[in-house]
Amino acid sequence: MSKIWVKKPMSAYEADIKKSELKRVLGKWSLTAIGIGAIIGGGIFVLTGTGAYYNAGPALALSFVIAGIACVFAALCYAEFASILPVEGSAYAYAYGTVGEIFAWIIGWGLILEYAMGSMTVAVSWSGYFAKLLKMFHLHLPDYLTTDPQTYIAAGNSGFSMNLPAFLIVLFVISILVRGTKGAAKANNFIVVLKVSAIIFVIIAGAFFINPENWTPFIPEPTTITENGVSHSAYGLAGVVAGASAIFFAYVGFDAVSTQAGEAINPKKDVPFAIIASLIICTLLYILVSLVLTGMMHYTDFNPLGKYPDAIKAPVAYAFDIAGQAWAGYIITVAATVGLISVLMVMIMGQSRIFLGMSKDGLIPATFSKVNPKTGVPTKNLLILGVVIAVVASLTPINDLAHMTSFGTLFAFTMVCVAVWVLRVKEPNLQRNFKVPALPVIACLGIAINVYLIFNLSKEAQMYSFGWLIIGFIVYFLYSKKHSKLQNGELGETFKAEQEPLEKP
Ligand code: ALA
Repeated sequence: MSKIWVKKPMSAYEADIKKSELKRVLGKWSLTAIGIGAIIGGGIFVLTGTGAYYNAGPALALSFVIAGIACVFAALCYAEFASILPVEGSAYAYAYGTVGEIFAWIIGWGLILEYAMGSMTVAVSWSGYFAKLLKMFHLHLPDYLTTDPQTYIAAGNSGFSMNLPAFLIVLFVISILVRGTKGAAKANNFIVVLKVSAIIFVIIAGAFFINPENWTPFIPEPTTITENGVSHSAYGLAGVVAGASAIFFAYVGFDAVSTQAGEAINPKKDVPFAIIASLIICTLLYILVSLVLTGMMHYTDFNPLGKYPDAIKAPVAYAFDIAGQAWAGYIITVAATVGLISVLMVMIMGQSRIFLGMSKDGLIPATFSKVNPKTGVPTKNLLILGVVIAVVASLTPINDLAHMTSFGTLFAFTMVCVAVWVLRVKEPNLQRNFKVPALPVIACLGIAINVYLIFNLSKEAQMYSFGWLIIGFIVYFLYSKKHSKLQNGELGETFKAEQEPLEKP
């Protein structure tokens, strides 16, 4: 039993790095673009209306500041880890070397919520934007090809249905990813330029339509909103904090940079840089977008039972429609449709690299760590993931998936804050190219704020996510513990040299 706490020795990571078959092709700015590629997506284009109307009012910008701060604490901790352990498993790998195998396993299992389930959510959101894009050209796909079976039947239909665009976009992304990381990074760079331009366009063009009266009062008095017989409290300072949980999904993704460490040219310096740079850039853009949006439209205009019932579904595009600038709404729809492809790309790439790390350690089957020598990417791993994500995304209603994605992310953030602190205490002399300043304070704040945000997620999402973690423990005891290379002494010399540090200054 006690072996479940076994830690992967630092020297075993060194061996992993030497043996790695992944190609080191990613520079500092490609890594930063990967971070931005994963962060800016459906969240900013969709959740802003919900956050403004149900939670924060014009103070939505403060909600973005709070969620951004929660992410910065975690990002600093990720950055320190990445500067010590430039391997592909992200939070999973960091925990294996510090808090032990069972913790690492459950974090890796939780990361499936962030990356695989996140990919499904994004694929379904993409399908929604794609339908809007087709509508611009007066094209319409039949409902049975854009709706999962459960939603389709609940709407009073019968017969076959699936979300075909969600299915196809995942396969399209996989077809890019299996060709190699360099090509995928190029495609990502292009999409990032496009979507950052769209966001800057929203900020600049929207600024001309701001009515400052919409910002007064900036933090509306606390009140209760009752809808379909269900009441919930909104606004005031509590509303601002609840708003941070509501829009947290918009930040999910910056940690994906750490899953690419195995493919970075200079991982110890560039991965920490890219994590922090992508997060800061996106936080600034998000704060400005939310200020512009709540300046263009009064927050109560996002009421789904009010005079603009559809505004909450696509708030940014709607704000321009209402300002009489429908053409701007078209630009935003195109940017969001293309932009979501890079979120999907980075999420699936991240999941495949986490599985690669877990498979190398024997915790999941060896198929996931077979790297194609020609392309330098784990082809089978990507194909299996692609099929599973495509099928589930096309057949499942997605309501709670975004919240479960946030759960997996916040859980990983919390554990990384714990693990970086543990490693600092246990291995103070390891070479760290990046060190979190005032670590005990930052780690404590990071843990507190991330746990707080977890408890603000929907109760259903909390319940399903805990259920998911319990299944994870069962899989661990039935499969992973028995196949663990560390448990079986298959990490050879490195296992015996358990506490040998990776690199001392
Ligand atoms: N942050 C990503 C999005 O908003 C997941 O789509």
